[in-house]
Amino acid sequence: MLMDKIAAKFQVEQLQPYGIKIAANQDVDITELNGLDLKSLAEKYQIVLLRGFNFLEKANLVHYAKSMGALLEWDFGQVMEMQVQEMPKNYLFTNGPVPFHWDGAFHQVPSFLLFHCIQAPLPDSGGETIFCNTQLLWQQASAAERRQWQTYSLNYKTEKLAHYGGAIQVPLVQQHPVTHETILRFAEPVPATLLNPVEASVEQLAPVESADFFNRLAERCYQPHYCYSHTWQENDFLIADNHALIHGRNAFKAFSPRHLRRIQVL
Ligand SMILES: [Fe+2]
Repeated sequence: MLMDKIAAKFQVEQLQPYGIKIAANQDVDITELNGLDLKSLAEKYQIVLLRGFNFLEKANLVHYAKSMGALLEWDFGQVMEMQVQEMPKNYLFTNGPVPFHWDGAFHQVPSFLLFHCIQAPLPDSGGETIFCNTQLLWQQASAAERRQWQTYSLNYKTEKLAHYGGAIQVPLVQQHPVTHETILRFAEPVPATLLNPVEASVEQLAPVESADFFNRLAERCYQPHYCYSHTWQENDFLIADNHALIHGRNAFKAFSPRHLRRIQVL
């Protein structure tokens, strides 16, 4: 099977509480792994971390990502350089926290996120990317919660100051388009203390109850049962399922570098 084939060449380990790590300890490119195989591993495990592989130049990374599927296009192109900017218009490009969200909500939702760590934060400086597995969260919710959540539509609104913006309404409970697992399309409101805030509300609830719902569910998303926190090492490659997971970032120290390259596969 696929996993046996990969385990014959690389070291494979489970990540906690979900996901897998594939480690190479010899001179090898990630292109040794078939892009479609990698995609099916990401569908099965939600996170695949590739560590110890050779550095890949941007053009080669784009070429490899295309072997997994078509790439999402933005006004900046297909590759986002995620790093602190001098005059940021959006909190993504600061050293502040990034609340949980899924990518493409206001534009087009990609299936996978492919990250390449060009420069990792300094040790103990924060900057971990955090991934909440909404499938696990749903599976462990009570029957009463599930019944209630199925009736909710969530409204999200933000001004287009960076590459995304607008107003959307989405059902909270949805099906994964490929695996058909139940997933949650939940994003945390982005407070006005951060650049480019996002307003969020539950269509069916009064403002106070709606705010309470967001606070409670957000708190649960950070629990270690559902949340994989990734401490970056230089040259890590990480593939994440953008349908099953929501992701965010811990703040990092202002003096610490942090540069991730990100490509989204449709
Ligand atoms: Fe994101």
